[in-house]
Amino acid sequence: MKLAILSRAPRSYSTQRLRTAALDRGHEVKVLNTLRFGIDLSGDEPDLQFRGKRLSHYDAILPRIGNSITYFGTAVVRQFEQMDVYTPNTSWGITNSRDKLRATQILSRHHIGMPATTFVRDRADVIAAIERVGGAPVVIKLLEGTQGIGVILAPTLKVAEAIIETLQSTRQNVLIQRFVSESKGRDIRALVVGDRVVAAMRRVAQGDEFRSNVHRGGTVEAVTLDEDYERAAVRAAQIMGLRVAGVDMLEGNEGPLVMEVNSSPGLEGIERATDLDIAGSIIDHIDNQVAFPEIDVRQRLTVSTGYGVAEIAVQAASDLVGKTLGESGLRERDISALTLQRGTSVIPNPHSRHVLEAGDRLLCFGKLEEMRSMIPGRRRRTRRVKKLPAEPIHEA
Ligand SMILES: Nc1ncnc2c1ncn2[C@@H]1O[C@H](COP(=O)(O)OP(=O)(O)O)[C@@H](O)[C@H]1O
Ligand SMILES: [Mg+2]
Repeated sequence: MKLAILSRAPRSYSTQRLRTAALDRGHEVKVLNTLRFGIDLSGDEPDLQFRGKRLSHYDAILPRIGNSITYFGTAVVRQFEQMDVYTPNTSWGITNSRDKLRATQILSRHHIGMPATTFVRDRADVIAAIERVGGAPVVIKLLEGTQGIGVILAPTLKVAEAIIETLQSTRQNVLIQRFVSESKGRDIRALVVGDRVVAAMRRVAQGDEFRSNVHRGGTVEAVTLDEDYERAAVRAAQIMGLRVAGVDMLEGNEGPLVMEVNSSPGLEGIERATDLDIAGSIIDHIDNQVAFPEIDVRQRLTVSTGYGVAEIAVQAASDLVGKTLGESGLRERDISALTLQRGTSVIPNPHSRHVLEAGDRLLCFGKLEEMRSMIPGRRRRTRRVKKLPAEPIHEA
């Protein structure tokens, strides 16, 4: 294949290793400076210029977009997506993983363990927010920090309040997060490629520092992960739309707590710690997937008028319970089940022999009008006010 590595650091360890791994496997590879692209929307079809000339054809790209150029970098990746060029990390995934709040919001509905987090704006809501995540000591984070910069441990409620007020007064948005004290000064970095963890390491902070970032002097050691850590890392990367990712997890008392998902993980520390050819596994994965460029599924499936995607929940009282998918009558109503979610496991392309259980969720494509009656009522929050009595109250 012909591969472009998008990077502004051609001589860095990671870029060099990826380039060499591609060459060793007989691929054609170029390192292209992300900032030298021109997005060309003047013709009939989406196109790209590089250094002022029309870019030649590539089969795949590997974006290594630095934090300081997220906007332009993801625009370039998006343009490659429009041109049906394969990328393991989508522009959507890179954008979302950059912002700690946005990433946490996206992951939060998928039953992935995360440190309790809140986000408030008004001064009057700060104390209650800190208490909601367990009180002081509490972690305060800038939304777009990296390398440990912008992550603060506030020892008391008063200090936390002062820090948050100071940051907000300079127009910085901050997250308030439970301090996971059982994992103080330690975390796990899992490198996910495709649907598996190819390498993992534990990072340990120096002295009484609580941040274990290598840039803050943390040291690293190879670890073999338990299955729950592997599963959390792979699912977090998949949900974020990243096929190459560094997933950072704290070691909580109840298991893994995902903190962040990095879309351009550095390879030096983890290859040295584990002695594994991670660059090679990334190139092999791209080579294996290159025939499947990103398709905006939702957009493609909603261009036929009256058709769309919906999630049908099998409720306990539903007459679907106990029936097979074949007997459910969905097909006859022009509805196809794409996936069946049961608990945290997902069955892709469920067979017509599958027996439906209460609590199953079917992701379906079909006629919206047919699906309307099968969609459960909107999820209600728990009721906080007392129900009215059945009998009206008469005034005396
Ligand atoms: N809620 C927390 N509880 C305990 N330690 C934390 C918590 N959040 C972050 N840390 C420590 O701080 C480090 C940096 O935090 P992180 O959110 O990964 O920011 P960055 O993007 O700057 O690396 C982590 O690697 C971890 O060691
Ligand atoms: Mg981090």
